[in-house]
Amino acid sequence: MDKQKLEQYGLEAELLPRHIAMIMDGNGRWAKKRLMPRTFGHKKGVERVREIVKTSSLFGIQAITLYAFSTENWKRPAEEVNVLMSLLAQYLQSEIDDLDRNGVRFRMIGDRSGLSTQLQQLIENAERQTENNTGLILTVAINYGGQAEIEQAAVAMAKDAAEGKCVPSAEEFKKRLYTNGLPPVDYLIRTSGELRISNFLLYQAAYAELYFTEVYWPDFDESQYAQALRAYTARNRRYGGV
Ligand code: IPE
Ligand code: IPE
Ligand code: MG
Repeated sequence: MDKQKLEQYGLEAELLPRHIAMIMDGNGRWAKKRLMPRTFGHKKGVERVREIVKTSSLFGIQAITLYAFSTENWKRPAEEVNVLMSLLAQYLQSEIDDLDRNGVRFRMIGDRSGLSTQLQQLIENAERQTENNTGLILTVAINYGGQAEIEQAAVAMAKDAAEGKCVPSAEEFKKRLYTNGLPPVDYLIRTSGELRISNFLLYQAAYAELYFTEVYWPDFDESQYAQALRAYTARNRRYGGV
């Protein structure tokens, strides 16, 4: 944690969310505004990911979960899907040593069986290389859908129960969610002005505070992030109480 950085933005460490989820949206529109191809926006978006991950560590955030590719994003033109997949692979290749040095623990959530073997391999290596780190937990959602996650957890528990491997319970169910071990989502941030959840962390964000900004993801910089966090510290979380 970097106390000076927190002070610079008027943030108090004890009031910050433990787990932040981000829907990184607006890359395409950001590029279009500049008369550039959508994929240019995705490239800029990766630069923001680097900055936001670094800043999260400095702010002393425990966990961030980034929505990189949804189960619905396969509907996009093949060329765009290919670029997104290769950007993910490049990110893992170029960043993992840096992340490791900074104590970041990397993990992936989503259906990895639908990804190329190369990407699956990179993900596994990144997870293995950083599994004992104790700093920021960086979770990247790839081929992720909240409904699919809940459905596969229910099916897996039912199967194990039928084979006598477990007695169904809420605990056994939660163990089979991709996010097992992560704290609940405290704060869900979505960029680009869209006011929806788009199938992200439906179970885990049950009581999350929501933050929507018009800013496109490639413009969501450190000071935008700090502004979002200041807004969180002013919220009054009641969890159904008074
Ligand atoms: C978010 O930006 C990145 C992904 C969904 C992978 P978009 O590509 O959705 O950008 P817009 O929403 O079309 O502007
Ligand atoms: C949500 O963004 C998924 C990611 C950011 C990876 P989309 O741009 O795909 O969402 P919709 O289709 O506008 O809801
Ligand atoms: Mg979008």
